[in-house]
Amino acid sequence: MSQEKVLIVEDEVNERTGLAELISAWGYRTETASDGVEGYEKIASWSPSMVVTDLKMPRMGGLELLERLSSSSQTVAVIVVTAQGTIDSAVQAMRMGAYDYVTKPIDISRLKTILQNASSLLGAKVELEITRRKLRDAGSLGTLIGSSKKMQEIFRLIEMVAPSTASVLITGASGTGKELVARTTHELSPRRNKPFVAINCAAIPETLIESEIFGHEKGAFTGAVERRTGCFELAEGGTLLLDEIGEMPIATQAKLLRVLEDRKLRRLGSKVETTVDVRVLAATNKIPEEAVARGELRNDLYYRLNVFNIHMPPLREHKEDIPDLVQSLLSDMSSKHGRKVATVSEAVLNLFRNYSWPGNVRELRNTLERAVIVCDGAVVETKHLPPGFGQTTVRTSSDDSDGIRLSVGTTVGEAEKLLILKTLESTNNNKTRAAEILAISLKTLHNKLKEYGSAAAAEAADKENEVDKEMEGEEVPAKEEI
Ligand SMILES: Nc1ncnc2c1ncn2[C@@H]1O[C@H](COP(=O)(O)OP(=O)(O)OP(=O)(O)O)[C@@H](O)[C@H]1O
Ligand SMILES: [Mg+2]
Repeated sequence: MSQEKVLIVEDEVNERTGLAELISAWGYRTETASDGVEGYEKIASWSPSMVVTDLKMPRMGGLELLERLSSSSQTVAVIVVTAQGTIDSAVQAMRMGAYDYVTKPIDISRLKTILQNASSLLGAKVELEITRRKLRDAGSLGTLIGSSKKMQEIFRLIEMVAPSTASVLITGASGTGKELVARTTHELSPRRNKPFVAINCAAIPETLIESEIFGHEKGAFTGAVERRTGCFELAEGGTLLLDEIGEMPIATQAKLLRVLEDRKLRRLGSKVETTVDVRVLAATNKIPEEAVARGELRNDLYYRLNVFNIHMPPLREHKEDIPDLVQSLLSDMSSKHGRKVATVSEAVLNLFRNYSWPGNVRELRNTLERAVIVCDGAVVETKHLPPGFGQTTVRTSSDDSDGIRLSVGTTVGEAEKLLILKTLESTNNNKTRAAEILAISLKTLHNKLKEYGSAAAAEAADKENEVDKEMEGEEVPAKEEI
């Protein structure tokens, strides 16, 4: 049995003694205080490892106590007790560094789990610190690379938020590393030996999403032939990443909110509720406030998830990281494809520095992957980049891989060429089919290709196909324009 010390801070005498008896019965040593002032003094003199505190109390309330503790050197896990319907103050408490919260009337089993988790957190603190030091390097945090000011700030936020159970909303454009941030947060948390489960809300049909998340019983709906364990249960004790949260149907968002607030879950078609202990992280490449305004994201859910926000900058805003990213990604890609490509030429690096990277780090990664495949030596040169690289704005996000994106400054002639070559690419160089799609005659297409230098164009298209084949089976590959 644990002999850890728990201080109970509560002004209402019956609740105070009741809680103290209960927590003592679980094997902890307990002391009590009747408000924040007394609580703060006892923390200093008795050094408990955990504090269970009410929020509203005379003289000094729970939030003020938290504030005091955050500016002191005390390491103590604070669990806040809030009245139902005052989730706002719970969110605020989490922001101020509370470990977790329970709502009144207190769910005893949940409080017990929280205390157990908190004490294992404290036990794991030393171990965590070792992990943190291992993962932390001057220019990286785990697999995240970046010595720029912007990335260093991201690392600081991750390290700060990782140890708690607080929800984190990770925002930023596609390919900026949101999923990597979520994984790193899990890695740096006391939950890291438990599962990390990621679910992409955009990739699951609306009709299936609820059963994916919450699970279902056999026969819950037509087609539910087997019982299914949902993501929440799969992530028990660990971390769940709800990716593309803005794509989640509104009705599902309402259910999710309930699970987040009560930490209780009911599988579809089930009558029983189970308590879940899952840390929820969410990611979106939309601007959340705008998604809320458009009615795609429930305001209350946004508020609940956005306890902390980590906003990933686009790559063009931290270009100083490009050389380090190139080195790291190149070595990954080289070993993946069994090549010995060690570096990129100065000319390539210059092109990279001058490019706007609309697909962010993922686009850089994909560009390097292609280069590694077509490169026969140790150094990536400009000829290994997709033809015309850097001259047009290309986009590599999966949702847009069939389109072309043109930046202002492109001539109509260039746009036409891009469109024709892209269409040829998508038809595997089948000119008849491409002409049909473009609604031009085969003869016109041939003439156009002659104009562009048909040999080069055909070769480029062939090479593209070759490269795509080699990259199959990976995450959606980049489709640069040729
Ligand atoms: N700072 C970084 N250091 C190293 N690799 C990175 C970094 N940022 C992103 N990556 C790599 O870039 C790719 C895209 O990252 P990730 O999948 O995390 O992006 P995302 O923001 O979740 O994108 P999307 O919104 O399209 O899902 C991954 O291969 C990831 O490993
Ligand atoms: Mg992602």
